[in-house]
Amino acid sequence: MELEEMFATRADRLKASEIRELLKLLDQPDIISFAGGIPDPALFPAKAFQAAFAKALDLQHQAKALQYSVSEGYLPLREWLAAHMAGISVPCDVDNILITSGSQQALDYLGKLMLSPGDTALVNWPTYLGALAAFTAYEPRFDRLDLGANHSVSEYGERAEAEGGRVKFAYLSADFSNPTGETVDATGRERLLDMAEALDCAIIEDGAYQALRYDGEAIAPILAIELARTGDLEACRTIYCGSFSKTLSPGLRVGWIVAAKPVISKLVLMKQAADLHSPTINQMAIHGVAERHFDTHVATLCAAYSARRDAMLAALADHMPEGVEWTRPEGGMFIWITLPKGMDGADLLDRAIRDQRVAFVPGGAFFADGSGANTIRLSFSNSDETAIAEGVSRLGAVLRRALSD
Ligand SMILES: Cc1ncc(COP(=O)(O)O)c(C=O)c1O
Repeated sequence: MELEEMFATRADRLKASEIRELLKLLDQPDIISFAGGIPDPALFPAKAFQAAFAKALDLQHQAKALQYSVSEGYLPLREWLAAHMAGISVPCDVDNILITSGSQQALDYLGKLMLSPGDTALVNWPTYLGALAAFTAYEPRFDRLDLGANHSVSEYGERAEAEGGRVKFAYLSADFSNPTGETVDATGRERLLDMAEALDCAIIEDGAYQALRYDGEAIAPILAIELARTGDLEACRTIYCGSFSKTLSPGLRVGWIVAAKPVISKLVLMKQAADLHSPTINQMAIHGVAERHFDTHVATLCAAYSARRDAMLAALADHMPEGVEWTRPEGGMFIWITLPKGMDGADLLDRAIRDQRVAFVPGGAFFADGSGANTIRLSFSNSDETAIAEGVSRLGAVLRRALSD
């Protein structure tokens, strides 16, 4: 018996992520890697976590920490999150919040909740690869969410219907997106809300990098803007996904969803069926650390990462040959590079690792339609300024060589 023949049709669409495969190759010490979009482990609040885990395991708390728990999530953490969301202009009840195992799980659940095969998900070209992977399992078609272009709403709807489904949601990361580092301004957020209203679809707002702003004015989340319009979270079509991965620890796998209560109730049933609940001890530790240190720790991260972003921007200005363009992010972890037409990011990576021991992620994987071959993503979060200067100089050498061939 071939077990592969037992796989459901959706399994055909599951492919190994280029990024994960790449990360496996990059632990050789002489490679300067701008590939993984991960926090710098030297900046983890490890001491604070030691104290929080010790407390969770003391005599008073251990029964709760190690026992089964409710699917909605650890109540004190949801209370902290309700206050945190109020701080970014989204006042909500604890019943509007579900704790998930990272925001990746939130994306999977939302795909499962909303997408029937053939339905349409609107995503940016490029968008977060993990969102494409999560949604793809539910067999949607993707259409291009492009707030800059004047797409007529009826076109989106007609194309979706022609494929036998309807537009269910628009997914985007409005602040410092992965992979481009770009931010959607307030006008773009308003325009998206108008469009979602006309299409009568949901918006999935991925706030994974929201707290990591280094300069410029904070822009209210899409959910906050919608809440200001409707005056009632229960009437909002935006579903907000948050994460502690970029601020406190990705390894503990704690994220959250904020949405109208009927959405949360369904997602709670989904969580019960999938994994019962996220690990309580991790939620307790995150709560303990967030309660005491969130703001100061985020300020520490912003100081460190903004210096790295500046170092990368300066090095790009010094070393990139003519014809190469890049974004200037106000936060997050990424700079997105557009190479001259005809160049291929994947070929360039091969050369870069072989000839100059520098790595990045080819951009093509972030496009649902397979375009974008002449793009690459650089992450500045996990390298110090010296490595950034050296790595970008090496990248410049690879590019000049490739352009002269
Ligand atoms: C835009 C975006 N959303 C969601 C995630 C998932 O993060 P986590 O599941 O660790 O919260 C990531 C991780 O890189 C991301 O870049």
